[in-house]
Amino acid sequence: MTKLQDLTKTGKLKDGTEVILRPMTRNDREPVGDFFNRMTPSVLQYVRNDVTNPKVLDQWFDHLNYDRVFPLLAFKGDKVVANATLHRVGYGWRKHLGTLRIVVDTEFHGKGLGTLMINELVDLSHEFGLEKLMVEFPLRAHGALAMFKKAGFSPRAVIEGLMKDRHGENLDIVIMVMDVAVHANRI
Ligand SMILES: CC(C)(COP(=O)(O)OP(=O)(O)OC[C@H]1O[C@@H](n2cnc3c(N)ncnc32)[C@H](O)[C@@H]1OP(=O)(O)O)[C@@H](O)C(=O)NCCC(=O)NCCS
Repeated sequence: MTKLQDLTKTGKLKDGTEVILRPMTRNDREPVGDFFNRMTPSVLQYVRNDVTNPKVLDQWFDHLNYDRVFPLLAFKGDKVVANATLHRVGYGWRKHLGTLRIVVDTEFHGKGLGTLMINELVDLSHEFGLEKLMVEFPLRAHGALAMFKKAGFSPRAVIEGLMKDRHGENLDIVIMVMDVAVHANRI
């Protein structure tokens, strides 16, 4: 398994901006808190946890365990500008399957940062020996749909009205899947 320091990388966005990608550590509580506090309601609607509640973040940092949740952060200077996580279960019928979540700072949308983060987590999934990756989100999240398609995921199911947004409106959920081994052999 790659060492943590080897997972720190510099990435160049479409507009030339340089960002640092690295795993989240216990010392990142403050910039991660600032990142979520800057999120607009339009982005927060796609985030699953109540990240504006400090207790939720305290819980994440108190129970940091890369085998269960691997959090990748993107930094511009001292500022966190994206957070993507790879979730794993070490046993049972989901053992070969990872799930992903991602949120990018609105100021950085459309610059290739989401794609950069997802590509890193796909590579890592391969190293972890995962066979498949899955992501689920509201079908109306067009940006996510475009980004995951571009990264090699394909939509496998739409479940109508499964979730509710914070206003109580029913949401259709799309499930996208990538076959990690097939993808790794193609590149
Ligand atoms: C989805 C999200 C992560 C995309 O991040 P991003 O950094 O803007 O994505 P990228 O710049 O890498 O875009 C990848 C591709 O998707 C396209 N895309 C991105 N946002 C789009 C949008 N709103 N509508 C249409 N296409 C879009 C881009 O054009 C790009 O294709 P291109 O390179 O051919 O131009 C970001 O919009 C976000 O944080 N959204 C809120 C949270 C969310 O929906 N998370 C997903 C659920 S887990």
